[in-house]
Amino acid sequence: MPELCVKIKETDKSYPIYIDSSEISELTRKLEKYISGRKVFVVISEKVNKLYGKILNIPAVETFVLKDGEKEKNFKNYKKITERMLKNQLSRKDILLAVGGGVVGDMAGFAASTYMRGIDFIQIPTTLLACVDSSVGGKTGIDTDYGKNLVGAFYQPKAVFININFLKTLDTKQFKTGLGEVVKYSFIEKSCKPEFEINLFNFLSENFEKINNKDIRTLERLVEYCVTLKIAVVEQDEKEGSLRKILNFGHTYGHAIEKITNYKKYTHGEAVVEGMRFAFKLAVEKGLIEKNYKFLADDVINKFKFTSVKKFNMKKITEIMKSDKKASNGKITFVLPTDYQEVKTFDFDEDFFLDYIY
Ligand code: GLY
Repeated sequence: MPELCVKIKETDKSYPIYIDSSEISELTRKLEKYISGRKVFVVISEKVNKLYGKILNIPAVETFVLKDGEKEKNFKNYKKITERMLKNQLSRKDILLAVGGGVVGDMAGFAASTYMRGIDFIQIPTTLLACVDSSVGGKTGIDTDYGKNLVGAFYQPKAVFININFLKTLDTKQFKTGLGEVVKYSFIEKSCKPEFEINLFNFLSENFEKINNKDIRTLERLVEYCVTLKIAVVEQDEKEGSLRKILNFGHTYGHAIEKITNYKKYTHGEAVVEGMRFAFKLAVEKGLIEKNYKFLADDVINKFKFTSVKKFNMKKITEIMKSDKKASNGKITFVLPTDYQEVKTFDFDEDFFLDYIY
């Protein structure tokens, strides 16, 4: 099975990422080295617990079942989890396991980062989005009334265990939201500066049918490629001082769409895809790329049949983009394509978007 590794400069922060598609029942045995002789506290998504809780059979002092949905990533559940950990008298030597999608991973990771000033935790992502993005790289956090992920920490897990079989039971909506992030990696590959060329763009063009049909071997390679790119970025810039910003390709406009629709109408992936379309249009108009590249990009995106997103009032969108935690000094930061599989960040005055016609 492929085993990748995140090498953060401080060596005690490096950790393995195991990707395989063996029986899910095997997973607990694989965790042995991390959990043996320690109290284990599990945070698991409700749906995953129903489907796999018994099969996983993790020997835990407590399994905290978190209801599904972004709205659960809140202070109340953070308090409940950490207080249950206290009740179970977990010490700094014990360990927390996060089993689920991004909500579980972010929330449990944040609990781990703050409990007794930090205890070990392991990510077991069960959605495509969590496999290729949120479980890797140490962003943890919760949402607030003022915005998403505004309280959190960079806190790396001790290991990530990805089992592709979890993806078999993902519904189409969940699967597609992950594909939005997957497609993103194909447009930023060269800027991630991986050690070797993957050419994810070609891989997607050649394998889209197998991907859409959830062929396990193809998904295993797909996840490995995306994680390789994410690792490359995180190793160069763990705390998003510069390079890591490229992972936000499609997100500035995408986040605004999610917010304007109260996170209800479109999935994160759909919003990011629309954000990438917006970025490609803008890049052509600014003379950063040839129209042909935009057509190629549209072609790859269209292979995954994402829901189309309506156009919004640019004044409202600009207001939201301005308040994003990544905006500063009144400037809106956009990641734009500059060449085939390459992107760069650009700062725009808000006035630019007020008059912009999309
Ligand atoms: N999801 C973007 C990042 O991890 O930086």
